Amino acid sequence: MENFINAKSLVDKARAGKYAVAHFNINNLEWTRSILEVAQETQSGIIIGVSEGAAKYMGGYHVVGNLVKSLMQDLKITAPIALHLDHGQSFEACQQALEAGFTSVMFDGSHLSFTENLAITKRVVELAKKYNASVEAEAGSIGGEEDGVVGLGEVADPNECKQLADLGIDILAAGINNVHGPYPEGWQGLNFDSLQKIAQVSNKPLVLHGGSGIPKEQVSKAISLGICKVNVNTELQEVFAAAIREYIVADKDKTKKGYDPRKIMRAPMDAIKNTAKELLTEFGSLGKS
Ligand code: 13P
Repeated sequence: MENFINAKSLVDKARAGKYAVAHFNINNLEWTRSILEVAQETQSGIIIGVSEGAAKYMGGYHVVGNLVKSLMQDLKITAPIALHLDHGQSFEACQQALEAGFTSVMFDGSHLSFTENLAITKRVVELAKKYNASVEAEAGSIGGEEDGVVGLGEVADPNECKQLADLGIDILAAGINNVHGPYPEGWQGLNFDSLQKIAQVSNKPLVLHGGSGIPKEQVSKAISLGICKVNVNTELQEVFAAAIREYIVADKDKTKKGYDPRKIMRAPMDAIKNTAKELLTEFGSLGKS
């Protein structure tokens, strides 16, 4: 499948065109199918993100790799799709994902010393070359919690960003006061001064993690300053859960054959699709393939 690609060409194009590619985390079959349908219906390139926890939940990296590829084949998806390991915590996790057919990996060494982060990122870059896969690295850290990965939210040091960039990574995730999960009350907003410095010294496409709940004007400004990929998980989880809640609270599962999982899943899938389309529009990547 020539449209099952790594993330490099998607983010490079986004950088040149001053928009951001959407990275949507998936959690199950219905999620994956919804995202692929959005990509196809809008002819937009999308990065499918899978955390270590989500891969484990679904059965493992092979299940995920085969699920995405098989759905693309059976649904005749022609839009460009990358399958990306989100927040890989070790060299081994990146290796397993690549072996299972992922086209892109993030090594998140933010829980290590910077020297160790740099050393492992270097090894991941070398390994990924053998698979023609792209690599995302992390400098500083993203606050909050994502699937058991907890970050302190340190704003990235531009000098460390430069050192990671010089390893030949394709994408850089730098902490700029962004947070996974809902933003806490009194949050001070994104650190645009740091973003500007990091964009300049690293000269790489940058990623905005914690893409759920950031005010739209801040997202646009971040894109204008070098963000080329925005990661969203929580917002889709919220609309998925809300649609199920509405169905059950209205006793729809007790009406006719409303207990059929295919009926229960219809509204949450539509909710994911509608929200994903809105986000593609917000990021400027609707129709960009
Ligand atoms: P949110 O869950 O806050 O949208 O963050 C997603 C993310 O950054 C995945 O890496």
